[in-house]
Amino acid sequence: MEYQPTQAEEVDKWKEVMFVYNSALKEVGTKLEILNDEFQHVHNYNPIEHIKSRLKSAESIVKKLRKYNLESTIENMVEHVNDIAGIRVICSFTSDIYKIAEMIASQNDLTVISIKDYMENPKPSGYKSFHMLVTVPIFLSNRVVNAKVEIQIRTVAMDFWASLEHKIYYKFEGNAPQHIKQTLVECAQMVSALDAEMLHLNEEIHKYSNQQQT
Ligand code: GTP
Ligand code: MG
Repeated sequence: MEYQPTQAEEVDKWKEVMFVYNSALKEVGTKLEILNDEFQHVHNYNPIEHIKSRLKSAESIVKKLRKYNLESTIENMVEHVNDIAGIRVICSFTSDIYKIAEMIASQNDLTVISIKDYMENPKPSGYKSFHMLVTVPIFLSNRVVNAKVEIQIRTVAMDFWASLEHKIYYKFEGNAPQHIKQTLVECAQMVSALDAEMLHLNEEIHKYSNQQQT
């Protein structure tokens, strides 16, 4: 007969898995803070505006497994749900996004599993961001486990857009009226134009202050 874990065993396993993901969030969060602090120290500015992290709820995990036509088991969630641990890094300028992504990728103990550059290739919705899926080793008392963390890096303006779009998407369960979708696409274009202008202005300011120093 096949071994069936008891409910208590399943609950224990769930708690352990979520503990690992929470530890992974802490590890990656600390790495990002260190990078930001060091950047401040060396280059006198902070590439990161702020960081948000979250663990996916049990409800959302089950929903995603259902979407993938998979049974709700702990094995399936660890194997197939990549964003149980999620970190969002918000920057001021688009140039900061690639800087941070590079700094993360060059850390030896992190493994980059995949990259999705929705800045280079925005989604049809207009969504822009830079996504990295990484694994980080978590050192437990008797073993080391690698935990996946989804890192989303975007500007303040892209984040503003994504929050509203997300709200609208849920409100209409993915079927927003055409004129709303169209307005969102236009807003995404404005966000890109704003990001480009702000970057340009920032570069101008730097040139100006460099001239004053020489
Ligand atoms: P899921 O979309 O999460 O099923 O996974 P995926 O494999 O398609 O990954 P993807 O990198 O496309 O999206 C992962 C996450 O990015 C989502 O959970 C959202 O947080 C965010 N995201 C992706 N597309 C959009 C979008 O069109 N609008 C908004 N607001 N967020 C998005
Ligand atoms: Mg998706």
